[in-house]
Formats: sequence, structure tokens, C-alpha cells
Amino acid sequence: MMKMSRGLFITLEGPDGCGKTTQALALERELTQEGKRVLLTREPGGTKLGEAVREMLLSPESGLMSPRTEMLLYAASRAQHVDEVIRPQLAAGACVISDRFIDSSLVYQGIGLSLGVAEVLAVNLAATGGLMPDLTIVLCLDAPQARERLHKKLKQGRMAIDRIESRDLAYQEKVAAGYRSICQMFPERVVLIDANAAPESITRGIMNQIHQLERGERP
Ligand code: TYD
Repeated sequence: MMKMSRGLFITLEGPDGCGKTTQALALERELTQEGKRVLLTREPGGTKLGEAVREMLLSPESGLMSPRTEMLLYAASRAQHVDEVIRPQLAAGACVISDRFIDSSLVYQGIGLSLGVAEVLAVNLAATGGLMPDLTIVLCLDAPQARERLHKKLKQGRMAIDRIESRDLAYQEKVAAGYRSICQMFPERVVLIDANAAPESITRGIMNQIHQLERGERP
């Protein structure tokens, strides 16, 4: 019998409002059309337990939460997600697309809350048992632009603001700059794409990266 190869693990990242959820859906469609089995998932969440942790993390009613508690809760949700969903799906040959993963913690907690990238990475590698994405796409957007998109959505009643999104502009600036640093730290895995480009052209750009990865052309 032919040995089934492990599926690709792709993550989408960027500041709130960067359009990664739209891209995740577009990628699911494109990859499915190519005949691949695709699993689209998200963090925090992705499992029943993870969704409960998500509620705790994002509800403004959680009130004051210490930075380390916040970092550990994201890591706990991730550990469950990896063991229950991501690893089994990859092993079965599916292409897994996750809307946010480890880099969100490196940026929002490691850089945004000043816990340190090295410390947050170490905790998260323990949480994921060392699993890292094959390819990470960061949709980059400046903090003021991200704010503007968020306010537009709020005005249209398309969302309610969560505990993380309600942080000040200085925090959002750290997040936007943090994603740029992450790209420099992991150039072999992380690709930066301008979130201001047309959605279809962003999808094409990401698909190109995936095809390069499949052909073994990425570093
Ligand atoms: P997300 O689901 O992308 O937000 P939305 O659906 O409202 O666009 O992410 C929820 C929030 O959690 C987002 O503000 C980023 C934050 N977050 C972290 O701070 N650390 C993490 O590790 C993850 C996965 C998310």
C-alpha cells in the first residue's frame, strides 16, 4: 500500500481587521478545487474546550487578567487544538489552514504584553509538542488602518469589540510592528503580504507560496 504523506500546515496571521478570515475561506475554496482535503480551523478555539477558553479570553467580563495567565490560556487552547484536531488531520493527509496559531501569541503576548518572544515560544513549543506551521502568511496592516477597519465593522454592527481589541493604539502599534519582527526572525517560514492589496490578488499571492512549497522551492 502507498504511504500517505502528511498534509500541509498553513497558518494565517495579522492584526485584527487584516482580512485573514476572508483569505482563509478563499484558500479553503481554492485548495478544495485542486482536489485536496482541507480543514479550516481557528484559534483561540477549534475544539469544544478551546471555544470555552476563547470565551474566557475574549469576554470583557473576564476583567483583569495577568499577562502570564493570558499567555497560558492561549497555549492551553492551542495544546488541545493540536492534539485533538491538527495532528490527526495532518497525519490523515489533510491540508490544515488555521486562522491564527503560535505567532499570534509571540506577537500579542510576547511583544504586545512584553513577556518576551523567547519565553512565549518555549511555552508554546511545549504546548504543541514542537509542531510548527509549514508556511505562515502575515497580512500586514498599520495600526491606524487596522483601527479604521475595526471601527467600520463596529458601525455596521458586524461585530462587538472583544477584550483584546479594546486595548489602546500603542498596543496595536506593538502588534503591527511585532508581526514585522516575526517575519525577520523566521524568514524560512513566514511570508509578509500587504493587506491593502485586492483580496483576489492576495489569494493568488498565497496560492503561489503554497505551490512553491509543494514543489520544494521555498528555502
Ligand atoms: P480572532 O479570532 O482573530 O478575532 P476576530 O475573530 O475578532 O477577528 O482573535 C481573537 C483575538 O485573540 C485577537 O484580538 C487576537 C488575540 N490572540 C492573542 O492575543 N493571542 C493568541 O495566541 C491568539 C491565537 C489570538
